Amino acid sequence: MNNPEPVVALVVAAGSGVRLGGAVPKALRLLDGEPLVLHALRRLAAGGIDRAVVVIRPDERERFDRALTDLERPTVDLVAGGAERQDSVRAGLDFLAEAVPTARIVLVHDAARPLVDPATVRRVVSAVAAGAPAVVPAVAVVDTIRQREPDGSSVGLDRSRLMAVQTPQGFDLDLLRRAHAAVAADGVGVTDDAGACEHLGTVVTTVPGSPTGLKITHRDDLVVAEALLRASTAAPSNTAAPSDQE
Ligand code: C5P
Repeated sequence: MNNPEPVVALVVAAGSGVRLGGAVPKALRLLDGEPLVLHALRRLAAGGIDRAVVVIRPDERERFDRALTDLERPTVDLVAGGAERQDSVRAGLDFLAEAVPTARIVLVHDAARPLVDPATVRRVVSAVAAGAPAVVPAVAVVDTIRQREPDGSSVGLDRSRLMAVQTPQGFDLDLLRRAHAAVAADGVGVTDDAGACEHLGTVVTTVPGSPTGLKITHRDDLVVAEALLRASTAAPSNTAAPSDQE
C-alpha cells in the first residue's frame, strides 16, 4: 500500500467475552489452533497494515505477549483498556498520541472479528486516504428486522435500506480523537466508532464489507468461523465481497 501518511490499527481486545463463556479472554480463544487476535492481526497485515496497537485487559499482558511472540508483522504494542469498548478505544488513542505522533489515519478493529478480509482493509484505508473522514465496511442484511417500541409493539423496517456494520472502521485520526473526547464528555454510549463521529455530525461513508467479517460472540460463531476458514482455503471465491449493498 502506498499511502503518504502512516496508518495504524487499533485492535480492541479488552472485552471479557462473557457471552462466549470459558476462562480464556475471547481474543485469545483458539480458531483452527490460533488465537482470534492473531488471525485478525495477520489479516490486517495482509491488508497493508504495518503497525498495530492491541488494547487488552491490564492483567492479561503476559498471555497476550505469549500469544503474539511469533508474529512478525504488524509491529504490535499492548495497551491497557477500560471498562467499556469506547474506554478501550480512548486508551488506544491516548497511547497513539505519544507513540505514533505522525499517524494520520487510524483503523479500529474488533479482535472478535478474526477473519477480516484483507481486501476490506484496503477498501477502508483507500476511502479515508481519499478524503472520507469516517468509513465503515457494511454488508446487506438478510433477515427482516423489526424495531421494539416502548409500548411493547414492534415496527417493521425497510430491509433494503439496512446494513450490518463491521470493522475495521477507518478514520481521520484527529476526528476520532475529538469524537471520543466528545462522547466521553457528554456521557454518550456508543457501540462503534462511527457512532462517536456521528455525535459530532460527521457523515459516515460505507464501503463493501465481507461475509467472513463476522463477530465472534456466541459459541456457534466459532463453529461458523472454523467452517469459513476451511472453505476459504479450499475455495477463495467464497470470501468475495458482495457486489452491492442491497
Ligand atoms: O462487547 P463487544 O462485542 O461490543 O466487543 C467488541 C470488541 O470490543 C471486542 O473485540 C472486545 O474485546 C472489545 N472490547 C474492549 N474493551 C471493552 C469491551 C470490549 O476492547 N471494555
